[in-house]
Parts: sequence; structure tokens; C-alpha cells
Amino acid sequence: MSQYHIKSLEEYFQVYRKSIRDPETFWEEIAEENFIWRKRWNKVLDWDFSKPKVTWFQGAQLNITENCIDRHLPTRGNKTALIFEPNNPEEKTQHITYKQLHQRVCQFANVLKEKGIKKGDRVCIYLPMIPELAISVLACARIGAIHSVVFAGFSATALRTRINDCECNMVITSDGSFRGNKTIDLKVIVDEALKDAPCVETVLVAQRTHSEIEMKEGRDFWLEPLIEAAYKDCAIEVMDAEDPLFILYTSGSTGMPKGMMHTTAGYMVYIAYTFKNVFQYREEDVYWCTADIGWITGHSYILYGPLANGATTVMFEGVPNYPDWGRFWQIVEKHKVNQFYTAPTAIRALAKENLSFVEKYDLSSLKVLGTVGEPINEEAWHWYDDIIGKGNTPIVDTWWQTETGGIMISPIPFVTPTIPTFATLPFPGIQPCLMDETGEEIKGNPANGRLCVKFPWPSMARTIWGNHQRYKDTYFSTFENKYFTGDGALRDNTGYYRITGRVDDVIIVSGHNLGTAPIEDAINEHPAVAESAIVGFPHDVKGNALYGYVILKETGETRNHGNLRKEINQLITEKIGPIAKLDKIQFTSGLPKTRSGKIMRRILRKIAHKETSNLGDTSTLLNPEVVQEIIENAL
Ligand code: WTA
Repeated sequence: MSQYHIKSLEEYFQVYRKSIRDPETFWEEIAEENFIWRKRWNKVLDWDFSKPKVTWFQGAQLNITENCIDRHLPTRGNKTALIFEPNNPEEKTQHITYKQLHQRVCQFANVLKEKGIKKGDRVCIYLPMIPELAISVLACARIGAIHSVVFAGFSATALRTRINDCECNMVITSDGSFRGNKTIDLKVIVDEALKDAPCVETVLVAQRTHSEIEMKEGRDFWLEPLIEAAYKDCAIEVMDAEDPLFILYTSGSTGMPKGMMHTTAGYMVYIAYTFKNVFQYREEDVYWCTADIGWITGHSYILYGPLANGATTVMFEGVPNYPDWGRFWQIVEKHKVNQFYTAPTAIRALAKENLSFVEKYDLSSLKVLGTVGEPINEEAWHWYDDIIGKGNTPIVDTWWQTETGGIMISPIPFVTPTIPTFATLPFPGIQPCLMDETGEEIKGNPANGRLCVKFPWPSMARTIWGNHQRYKDTYFSTFENKYFTGDGALRDNTGYYRITGRVDDVIIVSGHNLGTAPIEDAINEHPAVAESAIVGFPHDVKGNALYGYVILKETGETRNHGNLRKEINQLITEKIGPIAKLDKIQFTSGLPKTRSGKIMRRILRKIAHKETSNLGDTSTLLNPEVVQEIIENAL
């Protein structure tokens, strides 16, 4: 394991230089030393960003669950793999050992097989954060089925779109889910989604809330009896390095969500390596990431990364404020959590509450604190550092994306000196660069530009499911021969990166990526709405909140605006989910447009930010007069 655990800044620079000088040898050594391969690769890397086509460890064969579970059995069979912490603190915590996980994954895998699922089939998983979620993901991987986890906060319409896009044969869900003091009837949402999803033949239903639900004869099956009857061992499916492991949808700035497709070997190697180093995980540690497995953070750093390292990983079903705002810290104390990984939006929400919620608990077990999902502001960083870390627990501000599969830019704790709001230095193997508007790379420091990556890394998504052209257009066409992230960044004199935020029409609200186009489409379906435009504006907890400018049809102009606002948000909740609701809705007679008819979002953004003194030249607009009206009525 010589390549693991970078121990000093000097070593980091050494390792980094090696990874750039000779990436193939670098990754080959890590792959060789730390995993079980059924067959060795014949080529480490093959790539061409102009197509784009990237393959890692071509020719190798493996199964990721053999690496995440089976190989730990001789040495860690009785070690806890998963700690399940339920929503309700009164309910019993579950400790699932590697041996038990093996058995439960095997049984689940046998159920999938019995229901006709085979290698390459797509399985949609729509579950709350209960052990069945982790187990079903791993069961798919064991038999080579491609899992497509859909966050259980998404609406029926959003779920249906995702099921149909990759033509899932099966949906795995539960009767319901607990979130704080709410019970959500998930199965009802699935039934609604499946009204128009002919590809789905089978629905497996885990029991969680005991809600009354309908079971459709021949399609729906309760999971528990099937599991009980299933054989407790299941041979792995031997997978090729580049066989798809999963699809995970992320919002684009336009149109349909993008089904990012990740493959097996490169993903495994990169996630395992980054997990170990970013969190400086040691054998006895308890690690907790508060994300949901419905997002990439949960895939890579609740499940695959920790399990590939034989770690103990906590899975929390609930929310930070139930039964009160001390819940996170109570869990840290209870399980003596060593590494804690969360989102800036959660930190900001927690920091607003009374300090007594923190002070009640013993947080001395914490060694590393992490953040992910959006830029962290200085105030939140300091609160995290002082109040949670007591000033002596390094914070790793990790920048990465669904598309990148794993952490790309991050400090290494105890190694990289941190500066608030800076994600600092690229991980070994990662070659970021900043590009200017003319498409030239900005060399030298300091620099401010669009963040790209020049060279492939093992866990990058290989395509958008069913739409390689869109993959190329979105990520590889803006700048020649570079992967374009969609983010802007600064690089200071020491080479540290600070991510400044999206430069496209994706808005990050409470750490969730939301594309403006799908929300606008939802609003425009309202019979009284003629047209709409969405922009983000700063919000002290969510980071960004959504501001909608809406033009009403003549028929709608006389309607009560309060009711219309409610109906619009209701429509968004139905089409996308409650996370996409608008905080402000301004009705207007027009939207500022260029002469070619494009909405000038830059102006709308400034008005929403209350920065109206410097709107730039508006005289070239098609309808400059509308700007004044919008400013006067701004909310
Ligand atoms: C943003 C989450 C600043 C960024 C793993 C990126 C961040 C998008 C950070 C991806 C960070 C993520 N600092 N911004 N540390 N981490 N982002 O796909 O805009 O849900 O492009 O992946 O979140 O979000 P996604």
C-alpha cells in the first residue's frame, strides 16, 4: 500500500509530479497493489478527447463487490461495514458486519436474478436511506446490472423521465420513507411514475413505514419474503474494466437530465484512492458522510470508496433538525465519528441555531471535516472550524462533480495548509487548467477563468447514456481537447484553486444542481403563464435560491397573484420536486431580450441580486423599456 496515505506536502508534490510525468505507471501501481483482478489489463489508458473516448485498464476483469466485500472477509469479516442510524433516535441502530453485508448482498442479488435481471440490464433504485438502498446498489453491481439510483425526493414525473430514459426493467422502492416527523408514501409516487413507463416489468418493495399501499398483481413484490427464501451465496459476475457500473442523472442547463454513465475499473481505483487520502482513513475509524446515496457523493463516498477500503461507514436516514438541531452532533458522539463529510448548506443551517445544540455533545472523536457540493463561504468555514473542529481539525473543501466520479481538487488533511474557501490543490493524476473567453489557457498565477481538465482520470464519466453527442457537446466542445467543468475558478499565487461557481445556467440550491430550463418548462405549463425565466440569488442558508420572472397570458392577468404563485410552485413540485420551488416570483409584462430573441439572464440576475446600478448597456436590447419596469417591481 505504498502509494496510499500521502504524509507530507513534500511527498504530495513528489507524488503529484510522478502522476503527471507518467500517469500510466502511476495508476498501474495503485491498481496492482490494492485490488483483486480476475484478469490483468493489457493497456492502462487509451484516450482521445476529440471523440471523446477514454478507457482505463482495458482488458482487465473484475467485480467491484468482490473488492468492496469479499476480499475483506478473511480479515474484516466481523468488522462493521455499515452503521445504519434511523431517522428516529429511539429506533435501534443497526451494525452490519462485512460478513452480514456479504450475505445480504448475495441474497438480494439472487432475488434480482430470479426476477430475470441480468448483466447490462438497468435497475432503477428509488429508496430512502435505509440499508436496502446500499444492499440493492451492491447487489446490482454483483451481477453486472447497471444501477440508476434516483433520489427519493424527486417527483413522479422526474422519476418517470429517468426510468424511461435508460429503459429500466425493474424499480426497487419501499412502501414509504421517514424524514423528520414526516412520512412520505414513496410507493404511491412510483405507481404514478409507472403509469407511463412500459419498460418496467417488476417492482420490488421494501417495508419501512408500514403505510397502506397497493400492490399490482404480477408486477409488485414484497422484498422481505423473497430475500428470506434466497440462497445466501451468489457468485460474482466477472466484468470487463469498461463495463458500465451505474448511471446517475444530473441536471443540465437545458433539456433532459443527463444520465452520466460510469464504468467499473477506473471508477473503483480512483474512488478507493481518493477516499483513503482525502479522509486519511485508518483501520479503526468510523466515517460519516451525511449525503444521500441518491447523489454522487453517496455513491462514491458512502458506499464504494469506504467499502473498497474496508472502512466502517455510517448511513443516516434522517434530517439535521429532527428531533432537534443537535441530531448530527448526537450521532457523532454516539458512534465516535472520526471523519465527518457534509455540505455547506447544512453547515449554514446548523450555524444559525443555538450553540447549545453543539455544546451538549462530545465531538472529540473528530479528526477530519469535509465539505462538498458548492462553494463554502468564509463565515460558514470559520464556524465549522471553530465550533465543530475546535480549531484543530483540518477541513477538506472537496471540489468535484457527478461527471468526475470522485474528488478532484481538495486539501489532504494534515498535509495541505488550508485557506478558507479554497479547495486548494489538484489530486494526484488531475491536471486542471483555467481558460479565458477566447479559448486560450491562462498560464501563470494569479488567474481567473473557466475550469477545465486537460488529461483523463480513471473515474471520469464515459458518456451520457444514449446520447454521446450531447456528452461531447456539453463537456468537450467549448474548449478544444479539454474537459470543461461548467465552473469558474481562481488560482492564487501559490497555485491554490478557489471555485467561484457555475458559469452556465445550472443553479446550485442547497447543494442540489438545478437546470433553469426544466424549471421554466414546468412553469410554462401553467395555463395562465406565457413565458418565464429563472435566475439564482444569494440565500444565507441555501447558498442560492430561485427567483422567477413570469409573464402572464392575458387570461391570467386578472388572477390573484398569491394564488398563482402557489400554483406555480405546486406545478414545480409535481414536475421536478420540492427542492426546485421558487422563493420569489415576480410577474412582469416582458423579459429583456437580445435582438435574436435570447433572454438576457445577466440583467435578470443583477436585478435579483439587487445590483441595479451597473446593468451595462441595455440600449441594444429588443425591448430596453422593460428593464425599468422589472427594476421598479423587483422583490
Ligand atoms: C459545485 C457534487 C465549490 C460545482 C459532488 C460543481 C463545488 C457542482 C464544490 C457539482 C466545492 C461541488 N466548492 N463548488 N467544494 N463541490 N461544487 O454533480 O459547481 O452534484 O460543478 O457533484 O457542485 O455538483 P454535483
